[in-house]
Amino acid sequence: MIVIEERGSEELNEILRVEREAFGEDSEAELTDALMHDESATPWLSLVAYADGVAVGHILFTHCSLSDDDHSLMLLAPLAVVPDHQKMGIGEALIRKGFKILKDRGVEVVFVLGHPRYYPRHGFIPAIGLGLKPPFYDPLQDEAWMVRTISDSPVDLSEGIVKVADVLMHEEMWRE
Ligand SMILES: CC(C)(COP(=O)(O)OP(=O)(O)OC[C@H]1O[C@@H](n2cnc3c(N)ncnc32)[C@H](O)[C@@H]1OP(=O)(O)O)[C@@H](O)C(=O)NCCC(=O)NCCS
Repeated sequence: MIVIEERGSEELNEILRVEREAFGEDSEAELTDALMHDESATPWLSLVAYADGVAVGHILFTHCSLSDDDHSLMLLAPLAVVPDHQKMGIGEALIRKGFKILKDRGVEVVFVLGHPRYYPRHGFIPAIGLGLKPPFYDPLQDEAWMVRTISDSPVDLSEGIVKVADVLMHEEMWRE
């Protein structure tokens, strides 16, 4: 049985293990660790999926913003499910539960830089054409930069560059 719980810095070790196993390397775990210690990433939301009590999935949403805009925005990154639990709907369940909690907390819009074939099934659409640009622009990432409104009513965002947490403000993180 899969159970999803809000988990933060106290459970960092199991969160980082999930990130390492899912990506097969350390960089996403290091990024997760840095984001969860970055003041500019707050407020963030971190959820862990447990299968029979063992952590098998993790999702992190961190604060982001558009200048001259007071809407409540979040960036989804990273999303991780360990290999032997993939394709069971855990990624989807983490996204859905994250949206529900964020909506209850007044968040209106979520951005993601991710697989252009995975996130559209969760309602994300390309953001560049809407004038909503990532912090660093790489034309090869056009389709990967996506946005999804989670509030019930339409949100009229100002066009511009999305400002993310300080630890994400490095150009190499936004390249193909
Ligand atoms: C991507 C990831 C989070 C999906 O988690 P999951 O629990 O396996 O996802 P779900 O069970 O909700 O959905 C599985 C479906 O998504 C599809 N899918 C998974 N990764 C995909 C990708 N990169 N591109 C397109 N489709 C993908 C699967 O093929 C499957 O399709 P199906 O339902 O038609 O069989 C997981 O595979 C993972 O952690 N991968 C390694 C880390 C990673 O790349 N994370 C980055 C996300 S930007």
